[in-house]
Amino acid sequence: MMDKAERCRQLTDKLSDRHILQKEEYLFLIENKDLCSEYLYKKARETTDRIYGKDIYIRGLIEFSSYCRNDCLYCGLRRSNHKAERYRLSEDQILSCTDTGYELGFRTFVLQGGEDPWYTDARMESIVRNIKQKHPDCAVTLSLGERSEESYKRLKEAGADRYLLRHETACREHYEKLHPPEMDFENRMKCLRKLKELGYQTGAGFMVGSPFQTEENLAEELLFLKELNPHMCGIGPFIPHKDTPFGDREAGTLSMTLFMLGLIRLTLPKVLLPATTALGTIDPRGRELGIMAGANVLMPNLSPGDVRKKYLLYDNKICTGDEAAQCIECLKKRMEKTGCRIVTDRGDSKGGNENDQI
Ligand code: 5AD
Ligand code: FES
Repeated sequence: MMDKAERCRQLTDKLSDRHILQKEEYLFLIENKDLCSEYLYKKARETTDRIYGKDIYIRGLIEFSSYCRNDCLYCGLRRSNHKAERYRLSEDQILSCTDTGYELGFRTFVLQGGEDPWYTDARMESIVRNIKQKHPDCAVTLSLGERSEESYKRLKEAGADRYLLRHETACREHYEKLHPPEMDFENRMKCLRKLKELGYQTGAGFMVGSPFQTEENLAEELLFLKELNPHMCGIGPFIPHKDTPFGDREAGTLSMTLFMLGLIRLTLPKVLLPATTALGTIDPRGRELGIMAGANVLMPNLSPGDVRKKYLLYDNKICTGDEAAQCIECLKKRMEKTGCRIVTDRGDSKGGNENDQI
């Protein structure tokens, strides 16, 4: 009988060669992750190196609104959290963030906010148009949650290049445990497919260790991602926020998040995979370790200093007191230790066409 460690190694090799496993095989790896995590990270990092080299792409994140009409049970910005401080950045404030970011070398700006109806299509179009006009060599990524097809279309026509919409979990029953009844799993999936169809470079993603998540759910995430084949995939550990219904839940772990990063890299070799702020929050070396496990993107915060402490999705978020320039310097040093380097180009995905997985 083959021992478990040997079986894990064999499955990792199979995944590394074929970029897909059966659900049971993914599950076996996840259940036995401690037996083969180092080997997985090595394989995943080699795959990243083969496609992206040692280059790490940076995205300047602008958290432009902390208002949200949704009530997701895990999120500190949920509308029922009356303790959350709310703010909106004006178009001028957003443009001044992109100017600062441009000087610092950013060539991608991510506009992220709660689902805030104040930012109508007309207002968002104007923001996107003006960023693209001032910085035609930059990519604009939107992360505005669920909007109408018409809205996605108009914003694409205004010049938006990419869209991030985490699905949060690929399992409907699990989705319903994380969201209030008025939020609809089907609609979220519909949005993701629509965004792809409209020609956005599309990012999906989920939290690792969110309440009620099982190891089987994690295996299903990989099958779902394989099928969706997104250009980007944002994952990070769930971290409780004290003023939410999940305030006393356990956080997701560093080790499971790193393991999932490795599995995602081998499943979708060309995907853009960030080492997220949440990963840096649960462990001081989280982002470096994420890069060593196959991630190739960092998303430092470009929001103005006075609003940073108000965009709190979870407790103890890092970098809320630092200037963007400080974060860049800090990240450059951190990356040196991994043997990778931050580059300043748009950092487009090297894949993503339906039948173009390597
Ligand atoms: N812990 C970790 N990630 C969270 N997000 C929201 N709340 C939390 C939390 N408590 C993530 C969601 C969302 C993204 C913007 O932040 O996945 O899509
Ligand atoms: Fe912000 Fe280190 S990345 S201080």
